[in-house]
Amino acid sequence: MAKILIVYHSQSGNTQNMAEAVAEGARQIDGAEVFLKRAGEATTEDLLQADGLAIGTPENFGYMSGMVKDFFDRTFYPSQGKVLRMPYVIFICAGNDGTGALRAIERIALGYKFKMVYNPVICKGKVTGEILDKCRELGGVLAGGCVEGIY
Ligand SMILES: Cc1cc2nc3c(=O)[nH]c(=O)nc-3n(C[C@H](O)[C@H](O)[C@H](O)COP(=O)(O)O)c2cc1C
Repeated sequence: MAKILIVYHSQSGNTQNMAEAVAEGARQIDGAEVFLKRAGEATTEDLLQADGLAIGTPENFGYMSGMVKDFFDRTFYPSQGKVLRMPYVIFICAGNDGTGALRAIERIALGYKFKMVYNPVICKGKVTGEILDKCRELGGVLAGGCVEGIY
C-alpha cells in the first residue's frame, strides 16, 4: 500500500473542493490509501507515515494560507532528514494570481527536500469542472507513481 497524505486549508470551500477531487483521483489507484487532512489538524506523524504528499492552499495576500504555513512550521524540525525526496504535488486556489503561494511552497519544500512529481494545479477564480479534472489527475499521478515506486 502507498499512503497519500493530502494537507489543505480552505476558508470558503474552493480549495476544499479541489482537495476532495485530488483525493478522489488518488483513491482510483489500486493500492493507494488516502488521508485527507485539514492543515490545522495534520501532524508530524501524518507526514512521517506518508509515501506521497499533496499540499493545497488558497492564495492569501500573495502567500500560502497561514494554516498551511503553520503545518510547515510545526513539522519541519521533527521531520528533518526523515522525508527526503518524498514525492509531492501542489494545488492552489486563487482569486486571480496564485504565483506567490506557489513560490513560497516550492521554497519551503526545498528545505524538506521534497521532490515535485507533477505540475501544480492553479485555479484562478471559479473552481470549474476542468480544474476538478486536473485535480483528480494530480491525485492519480501522485498515487500511481507512489504505488508503482517510480519516484
Ligand atoms: C484574506 C484573503 C487574501 C487573499 N489574497 C489573495 C491574493 O493575494 N491573491 C489572489 O489571487 N487571491 C487572493 N484571495 C482570494 C482567494 O485566494 C480565493 O477567494 C480562494 O478561492 C479562496 O479559497 P478558499 O475558498 O479555499 O478559502 C484572498 C482571499 C482572502 C480571504
